[in-house]
Amino acid sequence: MIDISSVKKQLLSEILASANPVDVLKSSKLKELYAQIPKLEPSERGKFGKEVNELKIELDKAIEKRRNEIEDSNVSSIDVTAPMDMNSKLPELLPAENGTIHPLSTELYKVIDIFTRMGFEAIESRQIDDDLHMFEALNFPEGHPARDGYDTFRTEEGFIPPAHTSTMQNRILKDGKSALEDGGEIAAISYGRVFRNEDVDATHEHTFYQYEGVFVSKSATLGDMLGVLRSFFESYYGQDLKIKTQPGYFPFVEPGMEFFIEKPATLGGKAGEWLEMLGCGMIHPNVLKSAGIDPNVYRGFAWGGGVDRLAMLKYGIEDLRHFEAGKLEFLRKFKS
Ligand code: PHE
Repeated sequence: MIDISSVKKQLLSEILASANPVDVLKSSKLKELYAQIPKLEPSERGKFGKEVNELKIELDKAIEKRRNEIEDSNVSSIDVTAPMDMNSKLPELLPAENGTIHPLSTELYKVIDIFTRMGFEAIESRQIDDDLHMFEALNFPEGHPARDGYDTFRTEEGFIPPAHTSTMQNRILKDGKSALEDGGEIAAISYGRVFRNEDVDATHEHTFYQYEGVFVSKSATLGDMLGVLRSFFESYYGQDLKIKTQPGYFPFVEPGMEFFIEKPATLGGKAGEWLEMLGCGMIHPNVLKSAGIDPNVYRGFAWGGGVDRLAMLKYGIEDLRHFEAGKLEFLRKFKS
């Protein structure tokens, strides 16, 4: 029969002297103590077992203490002011590998490039906004049921991480007003990160990226909008595409529509397989008015769509969640 108190004494002193205190318990007498428990008379087992457990707890504490001591002494042995020894080999802490631009950024830069070549000015959207820009200036009066459709996050102070880049419309329109009055037009895209309070799955993320266009002149038409969008998609996918629209409701456009392209055969599509790419329409008169632009003189169109969706179709990515997951196997596929 092994004596608990002598085991305790021995192990505590071993822990105190050890550079690797966790190892002390690995092949120790403690194991023998545990092994003894089932061999005891049932009447003794409870008391003995309890004592062994208490010992284990005490030893664990001592190990923890010793480990902290060792760590502290290591830290103090580094002299951060010492000059670097140019001849010593650098420790190999990380694989030597260059990082890359995130695929969503790469695609966003392509989108910006195409639209700026068409004459649109590009403006990054804000990541924190307010009720006015998210709803009121976009013709969603307070209590409007379509507000619910945007699954909007809100901070405790009442600010809004925007649920779409349309929050930039009012700013773009106000900034462009003088250009209109000088006989010019407004042609801008805004782009950036948007947030929605939705359940995340393969096609829904709480954080994603949109690009949004706003065009206003005295004579803008839906036909112009479809032309701009077709050119954009054909340029982005590098081929001729079939397009179609169907009615869609957004309070800030009238008429409003959803814009589809036929999935190209080169990307695995079949004839008649349509993909919804974005929402668009003629800017609602109330939206022009809220920026001080007279809807009887000027007209415009706007669209907004997801960068993630563009990239998923282009690269056959089946799960939107890859983009935000920080998985290196995924990101390395986009290394150029
Ligand atoms: N903001 C809309 C959305 O995210 C898309 C949209 C933009 C529709 C501009 C019409 C005009 O759902």
